[in-house]
Amino acid sequence: MIKLQLCIGIGHFFSAPLYKFLTRAELFKISQRRYLGNKNSILNFIDNIIKSEIGHFNSLCDIFAGTGVVGSYFNEKNNEIITNDFLYHNFISLNAFLNQDSFNQEKLLELINNFNNLSVKKENYFSINFGGKYFSEKNAKKIGFIREQIRKLFIEDKINLKEKSVLLTSLNYSIDKIANTVGHYDAYIKKTMKNSKFELKMLDIEIEKNKNNKIYNKDANFLIRDIECDILYLDPPYNSRQYSDAYHVLENLTLWQKPEVFGVAKKFDRTKIKSEYCKANAVTLFDDLIQNAKCKYILLSYNNMGNSGNIRSNAKISDYEIMESLSKRGKVKIFEQNYKEFNTGREKRNNNVERIFFVKVMS
Ligand SMILES: C[S@@+](CC[C@H](N)C(=O)[O-])C[C@H]1O[C@@H](n2cnc3c(N)ncnc32)[C@H](O)[C@@H]1O
Repeated sequence: MIKLQLCIGIGHFFSAPLYKFLTRAELFKISQRRYLGNKNSILNFIDNIIKSEIGHFNSLCDIFAGTGVVGSYFNEKNNEIITNDFLYHNFISLNAFLNQDSFNQEKLLELINNFNNLSVKKENYFSINFGGKYFSEKNAKKIGFIREQIRKLFIEDKINLKEKSVLLTSLNYSIDKIANTVGHYDAYIKKTMKNSKFELKMLDIEIEKNKNNKIYNKDANFLIRDIECDILYLDPPYNSRQYSDAYHVLENLTLWQKPEVFGVAKKFDRTKIKSEYCKANAVTLFDDLIQNAKCKYILLSYNNMGNSGNIRSNAKISDYEIMESLSKRGKVKIFEQNYKEFNTGREKRNNNVERIFFVKVMS
């Protein structure tokens, strides 16, 4: 069990080690976040396909990484994991968990403990806009105050970029647990979440595995031209639902540019962070991505809800269009969650099954 003896305030850094060790329960794991379409539940499914179809590999790129659970699952000492997401709060989280930069754990534990013990009375940008909505007034004041402290610590050179990323990610993971939402920020629910305790924790970072990793915050269609990897894992958004809408509060808090917010949901102007994969242009972009990929294998997750009746849920790229693009690079196999392998068109599928399209790249 951890034993933290903390007694000093913010401003005292680089103190002697304050703890012996932390149990895993006292750390946030990369998977402990609510995120639409996250692939936590199919990691074994992906792993089994890689084991049976590929075997050993040296590098994997998770180019629409979101939480980063897929890249993280395959992260080992001797391989290279490339992760990317064009939302900034995801990029910060990927940096916190997966990049190789060093950090002072004692200093972070001390800051986290101090943040947890704060009681904040004064209003701030976050409490004015989100207090009494996504969060209680009390928690919103504390969240905004902590965010401002992280900004100051960084500009005063008291924490490095990795440490800033760890603190911001801890803040995002902790507020996810207490947000009055069903898991995303398109709307808030009136009553406060039960049994929720606002508590920052240190992150479960396996730094010794991170030495070859690379993290990006780019549009996937730009990045694809600059990277090479053995396995390219693709998990783009598949319908018109924008991730920048669903996670605008976390993006706003992480960017901390304090923009004006609008409407009942208190969203900021997200024009520059709308994904083209959620629009009609998705087919063209997907084909461009596939044709420019420099890799040996492609694995694609793409939901097959088809035309479900709800326009927002309809897939932007049809199975036919997926097959047309992928088959230009090699023979395509499709795997379903229940592990049945088949060729498109030969067998019927149920709706809502997780599928992986697999290509061994020939050209
Ligand atoms: C289905 S989610 C990925 C979920 C992820 N596999 C996980 O397990 O958490 C799709 C992700 O793609 C990102 N995204 C959307 N358009 C993008 C683009 N053009 N370039 C890079 N990332 C993009 C979104 O921000 C979102 O995090």
